[in-house]
Amino acid sequence: MSQDDLKRVAAEAALKYLPDGGIIGVGTGSTVNHFIDLLAKVKGRLDGAVSSSEASTARLKSHGIPVLDLNACGDLEIYVDGADESNHQLQLIKGGGGALTREKIIAGASRKFVCIADESKLVRVLGAFPLPVEVIPMARSFVARRLVKLGGTPVWRDGFVTDNGNLILDVKGLEIMEPAKLEDTINRIPGVVTVGLFAHRPADVLILGTPGGPKVVTA
Ligand code: 5RP
Repeated sequence: MSQDDLKRVAAEAALKYLPDGGIIGVGTGSTVNHFIDLLAKVKGRLDGAVSSSEASTARLKSHGIPVLDLNACGDLEIYVDGADESNHQLQLIKGGGGALTREKIIAGASRKFVCIADESKLVRVLGAFPLPVEVIPMARSFVARRLVKLGGTPVWRDGFVTDNGNLILDVKGLEIMEPAKLEDTINRIPGVVTVGLFAHRPADVLILGTPGGPKVVTA
């Protein structure tokens, strides 16, 4: 089975977490794209979705699924999104697709965060995947120097602009032993909008696509 097949296995298994009616949060990425396509078949069960990116919004709308503003919804029962890495505590690195800020907002506003991924995303220690940091454009070099002091090697994702009009620094070379502490430290650097560490708000359920079927991990 290809990695993409395994993503689809995880996405399919997330359907059973859908509430009966109401509005759900929907993340961003290739795994979530499978979820959105599957959602189209059961869309009658939902009132709509809050989306974490312009790309997911377009895909949801193309299937006729109403997309709502989070400000009009209050807290959501469930958020379904992918991840670039998860440790066994279900703390995540996210933002490979650059949608980390909106993703973190929706995760924070949701009672249950169901993370879907292929099995390669489960790791012992976070950090092999470069950690995305969204920054205000004028702060790019300043934030990069601070990230170097923290032991990382930031690389500007050249040519990429987030849905919020900001830039991404991908920080290589970090072995993240204390994810919550590093999340706080990076978030305190002036000019940082969001760091793609989801440690204070980890996933509640991780569904891994494996060749033998979906595997559910809880912390
Ligand atoms: C986007 C994300 C994605 O969830 C993450 O990059 C995983 O993507 P994929 O499902 O394509 O592997 O955080 O900002």
